[in-house]
Amino acid sequence: MENSQETEKNFKENKKIVFSAIQPSGAMTLGNYLGAIKSWNQMQDKYRCIFALADLHTITVRQNPENFRKNTLELYALLLACGIDPDKNLFFIQSHVHTHTELAWILDCYTQFGELSRMTQFKDKSKKYADNINAGLFSYPALMAADILLYNTDLVPVGEDQKQHMELTRNIAQRFNGIYGDTFTLPEAFIPKTGAKVMSLQNPSAKMSKSDTTPNSCVLLMDSPDAIMKKFKKAVTDSDSQIKFKQNEKTGINNLINIYSTVCGKSLEETENEFDGKGYGTFKIAVAEAVIGTLRPIQAKFKEYISDPGYLQEKYTQGALAALDISSSTLKKVKEKIGFIL
Ligand code: TYM
Repeated sequence: MENSQETEKNFKENKKIVFSAIQPSGAMTLGNYLGAIKSWNQMQDKYRCIFALADLHTITVRQNPENFRKNTLELYALLLACGIDPDKNLFFIQSHVHTHTELAWILDCYTQFGELSRMTQFKDKSKKYADNINAGLFSYPALMAADILLYNTDLVPVGEDQKQHMELTRNIAQRFNGIYGDTFTLPEAFIPKTGAKVMSLQNPSAKMSKSDTTPNSCVLLMDSPDAIMKKFKKAVTDSDSQIKFKQNEKTGINNLINIYSTVCGKSLEETENEFDGKGYGTFKIAVAEAVIGTLRPIQAKFKEYISDPGYLQEKYTQGALAALDISSSTLKKVKEKIGFIL
């Protein structure tokens, strides 16, 4: 493990452990970035961080093999471009570390049918992919629990849509600990104050998602400045013209205030004050410019990383080796407690 010096230093310093993952299911969205990746970035110096590309989760929806491989490699490069430092954190591809699937099977046996049936993501995806409601889609949260629990994780930076999966992870851990004694650390979700739920620019009552086929609804991290400007200019707003955040209303303007505040590191009130008396048109352009400005350096770095597949391979291989090392000891402990012959 060549990256081990700094990683080991972090791990020895007894810092809290952070784990999170993202699926390589297509291009990364502004929602992913503001809801999760920005927090990952900020947590790198303070915590011992472990990040993964959750490619095993991705096959719960049918993938074209060539695109899947390409998306995975590109997402790894894009996360490096976003500032995730593979020498400071463990950053690997989930399917490279076999302990994840092994613990997932075990946790499947400690997760109830009723619990999994209640997951809103399962219900939504069952509707969306009605011709492929597979067992993996159903037990998806147990694999996510395995990802997290393997590393004695304290904190999990995620967007709001993962809250229910996090609660289930805690329930599974508590259940296991209740039967076998203290085994798993109980992880907590870390959900940012702003940006935790970026909504579609065309339908502000639905979350921004790469699988949304409505044109201009979703901003992608690699979108050109022109495309970003066009999408924000076309963003749906209400008939009111004030730039004011309306609590408990799922309006387009709330979403734009949320995006601008998160991107600029401002509070919602600061954004309201900045645009007091200004119109929607001016505000939309300002939001687009702020997003373009944030993404420009990321896009430039992405081009560098993706042109060096040797470097990417070195880093994800290194990350997987280190992750296997840590997660194997948790898996061993779990197997011993259950009564497997080791
Ligand atoms: P995924 O790949 O759907 O999304 C990655 C992260 O982005 C957040 N996110 C959003 N945040 C704000 N607004 C949005 N519109 C938005 N869309 C997505 C998600 O909340 C997530 O944090 N199951 C996970 C991947 C996973 C995982 C894990 C996460 C697998 N194992 C263990 C944490 C811990 C997922 O599908 O995320």
